[in-house]
Amino acid sequence: MTSAGRLAGKVALVTGASRGIGRAIAEAYGREGARVIVNYVADQAAAEAVVDRIKALGSDAVAIQADSADPAALRRLFAQAGTVFDGLDIVVNNAHPGWGEGKPTELSEADIDQQLAVLKGYIIALQEAGRRVRDGGAIICISSGTTRVAVPQHCLYASIKLAIEQMARALSREVAPRGVRSVSLAPGLTRTDRIAGLDVGPVGSAPIMGAPTPFTRPGEPEEVADAAVFLASDEARWVNTTTLYVNGGAVYAQ
Ligand SMILES: NC(=O)c1ccc[n+]([C@@H]2O[C@H](COP(=O)([O-])OP(=O)(O)OC[C@H]3O[C@@H](n4cnc5c(N)ncnc54)[C@H](OP(=O)(O)O)[C@@H]3O)[C@@H](O)[C@H]2O)c1
Repeated sequence: MTSAGRLAGKVALVTGASRGIGRAIAEAYGREGARVIVNYVADQAAAEAVVDRIKALGSDAVAIQADSADPAALRRLFAQAGTVFDGLDIVVNNAHPGWGEGKPTELSEADIDQQLAVLKGYIIALQEAGRRVRDGGAIICISSGTTRVAVPQHCLYASIKLAIEQMARALSREVAPRGVRSVSLAPGLTRTDRIAGLDVGPVGSAPIMGAPTPFTRPGEPEEVADAAVFLASDEARWVNTTTLYVNGGAVYAQ
């Protein structure tokens, strides 16, 4: 364990940390001295590569497989995460399988069920985090800028994200007596596998999202991860209950 860094001595669980924003957060936490549980669902090699990079940074990490939309698997993940190092200080609810794509009148029941299972997973993860995170810890839900804009095609995804923001707010009141903070972080369009193939055009935003940024480009996972370091650190000790938008100043139009 590194003794230096803004998260030195902390233990962090990041769901969906083998790729994308979760990977960048896990590595940034490792760089800041946290020991990290790197959750993944399918890509073990990618998760082990993240573990290796965190170890190369001088901290420690383990990869644990679990489907974030499977309640029993999630509960096992949290039980393991609580013991693999000594306790748990930071939880980042990041994994979000699927989009449930479709306009409100066109959503299939299968897509609705799939995204409701994702929501159930988020809620169980918040319950587990609320019970297990040590005094003074931080719980961070990864939301989305899509909650700020009426994108018919992503209405289901955005609705799930709004729901977890509200759960995170309610949880903040319950855990505050123990000095635990519960916040959300809402990235704008960020360059990951999730948006691969999306035409981001000259304004750095997919036309479907309608959220151009002044910087005329999507964000990088590392730019989101640095904000997640801040939220997990003592520097954010007075930042609670709220949602931090990390999107380069994306302009959302209703
Ligand atoms: N990218 C964006 O523009 C953007 C914008 C706003 C918000 N977000 C949010 O940011 C978060 C991360 O997004 P991303 O773009 O990094 O997504 P991504 O590229 O799709 O993330 C993939 C990661 O999620 C894991 N994962 C997928 N399904 C899982 C499951 N059922 N259980 C556990 N892990 C699972 C993958 O594991 P395997 O490698 O094992 O498959 C991988 O580590 C999500 O909550 C997303 O909604 C993203």
